[in-house]
Amino acid sequence: MKYTIAVIPGDGIGPEVTNQAKKALDAIAEVYDHIFIYKEAKMGACAIDATGDPLPEETIEICKKADAILFGAIGALKYDNDPTLRIRPEQGLLRLRQELDLFCNVIPVKAYPKLVKNSPLKKEIILGTDIAIYRELSGGMYFGKKELSKDGKSAYDVSSYTVEEISRITHLAFQAAQERKKKVTLVDKANVLETSRLWRKTVAEIAKQYKDVTLDFMFVDNAAMQIIIDPKQFDVILAENLFGDIISDVACVAGGSIGILASSSIGGKNALFEPIHGTYPQVTGKDIANPIASILSAAMLLEYLGLHDEADAIQRAVEKSLDLGITTQDLKVKNQYSASTAKVGDFIADYIQNQEDSNLNFQNIYMGQSTII
Ligand code: IPM
Ligand code: MN
Repeated sequence: MKYTIAVIPGDGIGPEVTNQAKKALDAIAEVYDHIFIYKEAKMGACAIDATGDPLPEETIEICKKADAILFGAIGALKYDNDPTLRIRPEQGLLRLRQELDLFCNVIPVKAYPKLVKNSPLKKEIILGTDIAIYRELSGGMYFGKKELSKDGKSAYDVSSYTVEEISRITHLAFQAAQERKKKVTLVDKANVLETSRLWRKTVAEIAKQYKDVTLDFMFVDNAAMQIIIDPKQFDVILAENLFGDIISDVACVAGGSIGILASSSIGGKNALFEPIHGTYPQVTGKDIANPIASILSAAMLLEYLGLHDEADAIQRAVEKSLDLGITTQDLKVKNQYSASTAKVGDFIADYIQNQEDSNLNFQNIYMGQSTII
C-alpha cells in the first residue's frame, strides 16, 4: 500500500531522531512491500527563522493531506529565556493541534524490564507498570482567553470545557480500558475547580455505558504522588489538558526513561505521532540523543494506519536493541559502551530487514565494531 506521511522534524534533536524513525519506516516498506511518501514540513523555531511563522500555511496543508504525521520536537533556548517574545515556537504545535482538532493525546507508559534500573524509582515499585494516559489536548487553559494587563502587572488564562469536549475523549478512554485492565482514573481538582466538577459529572454519566470498566477519581496533586509511589495501581488515566501535561511527565519516571516514550495525538481526520521528550538542546547535533521514542512513535503511526504486523516488527526490533544493549548513553551506566543515535537507528532498521542475522553481527555492534552498519 501507498501512504503519505507528513514529517515535521522540528527543532533541537527533532531532526536527528526523526531520521532514525524514517530508517525504521523504510525498512518496514521494504519488508512488507509498502510505499511511504514523506512530505517534509517546517514547524517551530526553524519555521520562525525561515518564514517568521511557527506554523506556515504550507505545513498545515501538507498535514491535512497526509495519512499521518510524524513529528520530532519543538522549541529553542532563546525563546525559553525570553518570555517577552510574542512569536514563539510552541505556538506552532498548539495551532496545529487546533487546526487539525487533535483532541486526544495518548501516552502509553510501560516499564521495560531491561530499563527499570535507569529509573530513580525502586525496581520493585515500577516493574509491571503499564499505564495509558488519555490527555485532552484541545481545550482548557491552553486555549482559553488569555491576557496580560496593559501595565504588565496582572495576567489571566481562562480554562473552560464543554460537555461535548469532555465526552469525546472519555469514550475513547473507556474503550481503551475495555481492551486493557478495565479501569479508568479521572485525574482532576474537583475540590476547587468548576471545570473539574463538570468533568466528574460528565465522565460518571458516560461510565454507565461501560459496565465492565471501573471508574475512580483522584485529585491531581495526589495523583502526581501516587504515580511515583505505586504506579501499578493505574490502568487508564484520563485528564484535562494541563493536568495531563504534567502527569504524563511524572509518569515517564515510572517508565524507566523519557527517551523511550512515544505518544499519539488523534483527531477526527488526522493523527500526529511524536516522542514525549523535547528538543534536548544540550545534546543537539552530537549524535547521542536516544532515537527510540521517535522510532516507537513511528510504530504507533503504523498501528493507526491499521498495519499491526508492521508496528509489531518495529516494537520487536526496539526490544532487541534494548536486550542487546545497543542503546544510547542515557540508558547506560558509566563507562559502558554506548551507540550513537544513528547506530541505534541502523541496528533497528537492519533487524527489521534481517531478523535472521547471526549473533556475530549483534556481538560486533555491541563491541562497537559493527560489520553491518
Ligand atoms: C507536550 C509539550 C507541549 C504541551 C508544549 C511544547 C507546548 O509539553 O506536548 O506535552 O505543553 O502540550
Ligand atoms: Mn508536556
